[in-house]
Amino acid sequence: MKVIFEILRQKDPNGSPYWQKIPYQTETPATVATALNELNAQPVLKDLDGNPVDPVRWECSCLQKKCGACAMRINGRLCLACDTMVQPGTMKLEPLIKFPTVADLIVDRSALYENLKAMHVYRESDLQYDTETNETAQKASRCLQCGCCLEICPNYYGGSVFAGAASMVPAARLLSLQENTDLEKAYRKRVYEGCGKSLACHNICPAGIPIEDLLVKSNRKAVWKFRRGKKR
Ligand code: SF4
Ligand code: SF4
Ligand code: FES
Repeated sequence: MKVIFEILRQKDPNGSPYWQKIPYQTETPATVATALNELNAQPVLKDLDGNPVDPVRWECSCLQKKCGACAMRINGRLCLACDTMVQPGTMKLEPLIKFPTVADLIVDRSALYENLKAMHVYRESDLQYDTETNETAQKASRCLQCGCCLEICPNYYGGSVFAGAASMVPAARLLSLQENTDLEKAYRKRVYEGCGKSLACHNICPAGIPIEDLLVKSNRKAVWKFRRGKKR
């Protein structure tokens, strides 16, 4: 199978992006992640015109759909490189655009982690599991923090108070397990009040998390309970 990767490259955070075509050939089915690793393992990587070029910088860890590091745009779609098979013809690879580019296909997801810290979604103690909450918590715990749900969200941009589904999902896990008034307050401010309910994030999650379902459940816990008379 012959593939031409058309990659949006950028030398460093201040560099200008440019497209570069790099040919790839494989006799066996391969993921985009495998292809990038094989290309970078070549003694000299060459572009379509035969000119030597720098290795393609991209990020991965698990190579099995567990870490979210390899999230990128592939032919315009939000995908994990380790979960996307190469196809004959041209395949366009671009970094996520809602995060600052570090180099080539690597982005800086600090804003995502800062939002998690600001909402204190890491704080937990003596969590009580039961059958119903366990199911919600388990769904939410699959989050890879890849950022795809922020990339697709029309209401999210870096630095906004609105933290998007990437924070909503871990918050949903904790909210499903125990009362947490601080988190409920943060949720109302940083998720509920900024969410336009467009559901562009529906079906986008590469981990298969039912974002819409968790959004409804978390709103019920953190918002509607308040509306029925609890103080903020
Ligand atoms: S909810 Fe899904 S799309 Fe959003 S950050 Fe987590 S794994 Fe990625
Ligand atoms: S429902 Fe719309 S605004 Fe709310 S998190 Fe999803 S994509 Fe963003
Ligand atoms: S390398 Fe971990 S999800 Fe792709």
